[in-house]
Amino acid sequence: MAAINKSVLMARRYISSCVSDGDRVIDATCGNGHDTLFLAEIVGEKGKVFSFDIQPEALANTRRRLEARNLADRVHLIQSGHEHLDNHVHERVAAVMFNLGYLPGGDHRIITRPDSTIKALAKSLQLLCAGGIVTMVVYDGHEGGGEEKDVLLNYCRNLNQEHFTVLCYAIINQINDPPSLLVLERLL
Ligand SMILES: C[S@@+](CC[C@H](N)C(=O)[O-])C[C@H]1O[C@@H](n2cnc3c(N)ncnc32)[C@H](O)[C@@H]1O
Repeated sequence: MAAINKSVLMARRYISSCVSDGDRVIDATCGNGHDTLFLAEIVGEKGKVFSFDIQPEALANTRRRLEARNLADRVHLIQSGHEHLDNHVHERVAAVMFNLGYLPGGDHRIITRPDSTIKALAKSLQLLCAGGIVTMVVYDGHEGGGEEKDVLLNYCRNLNQEHFTVLCYAIINQINDPPSLLVLERLL
């Protein structure tokens, strides 16, 4: 099994600190289901995870992972772009996780795109309860990744500081373009 990257681990630490039993949360890019499984564990029996991906393969991999741990009933798996998440989630959420880029083991040409990522982020911030957070693991090693990162940073820099705090983590001593992490907290 591939090692979990440091930015994902850091994202999970933040998520763990703000998610409680029974909460509603979103995995905006479920991929192979590692983050969805993590979220399903921390929301507990009464919680709910809404997990989005555009690729049937990703949803099938995620379902298998959840079923192996008997956690599938806590998760709504939704085959849709995350830019449409407000069509599927109609309640406040404590956290939203994004892990951008392509599906590991899948078609590397199918990647998250700046336009839809920004739309999904804006909608996520609207659904977030006060004190809730959005985490975004952002890669710039693949084609299109650098542009997506620039657009995201620009969007985040312009968020109203009365309403949101945005942290940006960068790993500065690893080779091969390690991903960065954005953590957005809704203040009120
Ligand atoms: C790096 S992977 C996610 C890894 C995943 N979080 C995990 O734990 O395994 C990125 C995923 O984003 C998905 N994706 C690309 N565009 C999307 C969109 N508009 N909406 C939702 N998912 C999208 C890809 O299909 C891919 O599976």
